[in-house]
Amino acid sequence: MSYFDKRPPVKRYEHGSRVPGWDEAVDLTKPPATVPDPALTPVPAELREKIEAAMALYPDSKSASIPALHLAQQHHGWCSPEAIEQVACVMQLTPAYLTSVASFYDMFALTPKPKHDVYVCTNISCSLLGADEFYEQMCASAHGHEDIGVRGFECLGACDIGPMASVNGEYVGPLNLFDAQLIVEDLEAGRPVLEHKQLRNRAVADPQGRVADWTGIDPVGQEG
Ligand code: FES
Repeated sequence: MSYFDKRPPVKRYEHGSRVPGWDEAVDLTKPPATVPDPALTPVPAELREKIEAAMALYPDSKSASIPALHLAQQHHGWCSPEAIEQVACVMQLTPAYLTSVASFYDMFALTPKPKHDVYVCTNISCSLLGADEFYEQMCASAHGHEDIGVRGFECLGACDIGPMASVNGEYVGPLNLFDAQLIVEDLEAGRPVLEHKQLRNRAVADPQGRVADWTGIDPVGQEG
């Protein structure tokens, strides 16, 4: 039986959607959404600075919604109502708008999540190279480590290093079964994960290809 056969069915609500309430009529009695008042909404200085840096990259600062939400999630551990309120305050948007963005993309967590995200690509290229077995091994190695969340993922766009995984946003591969335990050990020790297998450390023709990412997010939790 393959991993796909054992995967639990996708939960659906009564109306058939995986998202609750999409077909519910708007409640016109609710007060209109408002932009948080900066005087009443404390925002951590470091988070504010990073969000403003992301906003500065776009002609329309609203375009920075996704990187700003990533920054808030990184700061708070998840996209809590407080985190969304802070992003809304800095960007001068409504929390409702940002919630609609965050709820569309499943890499944003609207409920508390484990500290570490291990996304194992189980799409076709990686699958042909043993990703399903690696996924099972990764689940087994992370079992009992409540701060490590493991999930299968569709193509992460790094098929050339398959089988691969994204660990807190750090791409690592090609992976073998022994790497699963090493990933757990690196995460628990607070070390860079599988440094010798990180995509960012592979030789590239263009040295500029390695510049720090523009969001300021350091996938391994250290400033770049
Ligand atoms: S199939 Fe795994 S990264 Fe593309």
